[in-house]
Amino acid sequence: MTTATNFCYDQSKAEHARRKAVIAGGVNSNVRLSGAPVPLTIARGDGALLWDIDDNTYIDYAAGMGPMILGHNHPAVTSAVQQSLSTGQLFAGQNVLEAEFAEILVGALPWIESVRIGLSGTEMDLLAIRIARAATGRQKVVRFTGHYHGWLDPLFVNMAVIPEPSEPAPLTPGQSVSAASDMVLCEWNDITQVAQALESGDVACVLMEPVMCNTGLISPSDGYLEGVKELCRQHGALFIVDEVITGFRLGLTGAQGLLGINGDISIYAKAIASGFPLAVLGTTTELLAAVGRGEVNHSGTYNTGVSSVAAGIATVRTLIDTDPYPEMDRLTRRLADGLRQLGHDHDLELAVDHIGGSLCQTRFGNSAAMTSRADFAANSDGPRLAAFLQGLQDHGVRPTSRGLWFVSAAHDDALIDKTLDAAGRALGEL
Ligand SMILES: Cc1ncc(COP(=O)(O)O)c(C=O)c1O
Repeated sequence: MTTATNFCYDQSKAEHARRKAVIAGGVNSNVRLSGAPVPLTIARGDGALLWDIDDNTYIDYAAGMGPMILGHNHPAVTSAVQQSLSTGQLFAGQNVLEAEFAEILVGALPWIESVRIGLSGTEMDLLAIRIARAATGRQKVVRFTGHYHGWLDPLFVNMAVIPEPSEPAPLTPGQSVSAASDMVLCEWNDITQVAQALESGDVACVLMEPVMCNTGLISPSDGYLEGVKELCRQHGALFIVDEVITGFRLGLTGAQGLLGINGDISIYAKAIASGFPLAVLGTTTELLAAVGRGEVNHSGTYNTGVSSVAAGIATVRTLIDTDPYPEMDRLTRRLADGLRQLGHDHDLELAVDHIGGSLCQTRFGNSAAMTSRADFAANSDGPRLAAFLQGLQDHGVRPTSRGLWFVSAAHDDALIDKTLDAAGRALGEL
């Protein structure tokens, strides 16, 4: 194994060059384009550790961008998937695991009576909007700058562009301008803007991350979610809660359980299936009835592939049976406190946002709790964060490329100690 002081990336560089010749940018998700000296090629993961093809070892806090809540290669998941492989995968029909999985979800999440299962968070967000439009007969969607709901045309709009364009605009060339124009954008945590947006009429739904995770880790202000829910009621719009990151992460019942408020439609993905393609829309039987009658379309060749559902059942069952949340919370708190202390020791403005649960955000700026995306942007020194993250990687620690850290059930105190040791060295080199 290569030691933390002499990380070499030669094999990753060669493999990236090979990929680049035949894969655009050498990656298959634009989120992975960043990465220095190259986007890494990972050979394997086990528990909370990753090994790249140069045999560098990393304590993994990227967690596949959230899904690996049980760690890599968890025996319960691996064994369930292995068993499922011998049955075949896709039957153009139902399989016996679907009802079991849905029953577990309906039992665990009190605000859900019925579900539809698909492959990705993006798709389920789009289905939620479709259900809301069909139920209300309206077109517009209120959503929030800085929140991410996937990469498709109607959703990839003005995510975190500063200064803000005056109209909802596609973020990248080639997207439909008319799809973007169905969005009504508000600043999150500003209830007046939501009220104005709903008053402007034709709003089918309000779509949000219940805790903002995608451009900074920011809690909803006191009473904000309740206020949004009430405004939705008053105006006959549906409240869609996108728990793609927070679901099964901020606790078994996600942000809605933690914050004691639920929306009309909930979306889950990532931590629900340990890295297998599986996402869930959950809501009332009544709201899903039009889908069930075939009036509102939801389709997909690969939906409920046997191995994905097996992974979903094994993951959620393990989370229910082992309740890793208090321990993950404690370790994340230790990590956050330790990083803050190291920032202080090195006389650096290293802020660590942790709102409870197994994720935290590092940034360089004012340590006060952030309340808005603009606040976060003004208090996050991007180049310095990038340098810190690079130093962490070179010392064997791998958070996400935007400074969000996911702690898993496979992390332990010894790994947190090692992480803090590496972070101290990385900070010392800034
Ligand atoms: C809150 C949120 N919603 C939706 C998505 C899109 O999910 P997927 O990448 O599974 O399509 C993401 C992805 O990061 C997300 O963070």
